[in-house]
Amino acid sequence: MKNLPFLELVRDDLSRVEALLHDGPQEQHNAVRVALDHLIGGGGKRLRPALVLLSTHICGANLDRAIFAAAGAEMLHTATLIHDDLVDGSLIRRGMETLNARWSPGATVLTGDYVFARAAYLIARTDNVRLVRRFAETLMVICNGEIKQMLDGHHCGFSRREYEERIFAKTASLVALSAEAGPILAEAEEEVVGALRLYGENLGMAFQIVDDVLDFVSDEETLGKPIGSDLRQGLLTLPVLLVLEEEPAHPVINRVLEHNPPTQQVVQDAVQLVAASPTIEQALDVAREYAEQATAALGGLPHSPYLQALYDLAEFTVRRRF
Ligand code: IPE
Ligand code: IPE
Ligand code: MG
Ligand code: MG
Repeated sequence: MKNLPFLELVRDDLSRVEALLHDGPQEQHNAVRVALDHLIGGGGKRLRPALVLLSTHICGANLDRAIFAAAGAEMLHTATLIHDDLVDGSLIRRGMETLNARWSPGATVLTGDYVFARAAYLIARTDNVRLVRRFAETLMVICNGEIKQMLDGHHCGFSRREYEERIFAKTASLVALSAEAGPILAEAEEEVVGALRLYGENLGMAFQIVDDVLDFVSDEETLGKPIGSDLRQGLLTLPVLLVLEEEPAHPVINRVLEHNPPTQQVVQDAVQLVAASPTIEQALDVAREYAEQATAALGGLPHSPYLQALYDLAEFTVRRRF
């Protein structure tokens, strides 16, 4: 487990979550077991299970049920990463080879499907129908967003509004659900569910904007995944959109968009240009605004060390480097 400050308070709970993540059924094919243990054991920040557990402690929900929800959230995240890396053609994740780097697309899709099923099984074990329904709804939002990005991404997606819809679907929706899992399990008042959900939505938006910035300014070793991958796929993220807002016909960016797929050199030139442009700091400002809105949503909740961890998590999200 990584040494991140917001994980401290829930470290023991997270150990139980880790055990569940590695505890596949007997019948699971050995190749799948090895691959999954490798991917799950390979790290990851555990943002989503940490949110489930922190919101559980804040609302006094049943911890045994929350452990299933936390494992389910991480398992669902894992499944989306398996499919995402296949769709993106990414060969490195968490510093290791992805499944699709070694397996056929068919075997990778089926393993992703299997991991989705394991996520559903874990979430069902919370015995909370509202939470199960919310997970299903969230997965529909994620998949619809990914399909839209794939089918329309190269032509639409030039506006800020479309970008925001895209990152809400792919990231903020699951982060929000993780934050509202605690109050849902505790059957807390709707105001509390709404406050934690709003926190999660805004945190998720900030988190994805920073991910999109890191795709330009980080390096593969720190990040554990390739950089420049969004542009390579013709995907416009906030730092690029801000460049295009200033100069719609920017030759270096447009060269990437005209080629499908663009050459390594064309992508590299564009990545260097964006990385050195003031739009990186502007995009981080937008992320910081979302993080502020996230913590503003917590205003009505009683103070506790667990609540403080949510403030710390918002701060970590906008200053993280991996
Ligand atoms: C990666 O998520 C995909 C995004 C939504 C940005 P994380 O950055 O949470 O990935 P891990 O779990 O820490 O590897
Ligand atoms: C992935 O977003 C979001 C989902 C898995 C649904 P990205 O494509 O930005 O994630 P990375 O950068 O590959 O981790
Ligand atoms: Mg990706
Ligand atoms: Mg990314």
